[in-house]
Amino acid sequence: MSSVAQQLINWHKHHGRHHLPWQKSQDPYAIWLSEIMLQQTQVNTVIPYYQRFMQEFPTIRRLALAPLDSVLALWSGLGYYSRARNLHQAAHILVRDYQGQFPDTRETIQQLPGIGRSTAAAIAVFAFQKREAILDGNVKRILARYFSIRGYPGNTSIQNQLWQKAEELLPDNHCHGEMEIYTQALMDLGATVCTRSKPSCTLCPLRQGCSAHAENTVDQLPTPKTRKLLPCKDAIFLILMQHHKILLQKRPAHGIWGALWCFPEVEIGVNTNHYCQQQWGISIGSSRTLPALNHQFTHFKLRIHPQMLHVISSTLDVCNQFIWIDPIEALEHAIPVPVRTLLKQNVLSHNDKLRSAELSL
Ligand code: ADE
Repeated sequence: MSSVAQQLINWHKHHGRHHLPWQKSQDPYAIWLSEIMLQQTQVNTVIPYYQRFMQEFPTIRRLALAPLDSVLALWSGLGYYSRARNLHQAAHILVRDYQGQFPDTRETIQQLPGIGRSTAAAIAVFAFQKREAILDGNVKRILARYFSIRGYPGNTSIQNQLWQKAEELLPDNHCHGEMEIYTQALMDLGATVCTRSKPSCTLCPLRQGCSAHAENTVDQLPTPKTRKLLPCKDAIFLILMQHHKILLQKRPAHGIWGALWCFPEVEIGVNTNHYCQQQWGISIGSSRTLPALNHQFTHFKLRIHPQMLHVISSTLDVCNQFIWIDPIEALEHAIPVPVRTLLKQNVLSHNDKLRSAELSL
């Protein structure tokens, strides 16, 4: 076995994480769910979401039977909702094409929506004890430093070099649960020792062979992406308040924030009072402009100009596209981050804030 693999396995015995809720399970569904939630989200945030989700949807079949709205609602606050949409869609595929059983090879797992090569490999290792390499963000960082691989890891050629190293380091003997321990050790080392900023090199089991450590270049690796200037768009968010309720509109299923509940959005320059009357039969009393807030997507920046509008009367026909909702209840729905921020900053009363903190919304 490579000495790196052996060092990681030895390190994990005393310094790795052993009591994460999904580690108790060999159920591929539970492992899949945990791996999806852990993409872009830290362990401590994930744990309560994972537990609620498993309680509500304990099997692939139960997940497939659930309406998308209730799946998105349980995801509320975790962000990156496309993960939940893909999970739901994959559950349908598993029921339709695989009799509700999770496939057991990395190649087949990888064909499901929302599962890339590294996530498929992690599931294959933890659920089926396969010998597969992972390469998530943490592992890219460890390998880029250990082998001094320069260049942005998102570039295909750099990524290919990293995959090759990830494959080379795998333990060759995968008896006695070694693949699982090795894989978990890599994840834990990246999360707790070889961190992006302020890594704890003195505690690292790999420091003796680490090329970046020897060259004192740990803080330069992995090479960051060269920043492109993103285009900026502006939009007005209408916070319509009537009898302590706010109006939310469901976004179209496809596109940005697909199927999430959002404040109605209008373009800059629109006369909002007139628009509300014309579009929805809503008469506005007083209104005030709130401070703008920025939200970054992968391909553009959105500058949001919120307007608080007090409704005098409304003939809006509420249907499945619109709801008038208590703001604290809104926090339990699938809402984008800036909507959550605006609710917390501008709409919840002091008492509501205490309640939402208690409910950890
Ligand atoms: N990040 C991704 N997968 C993980 C796992 N199984 N345990 C801890 N952190 C992770």
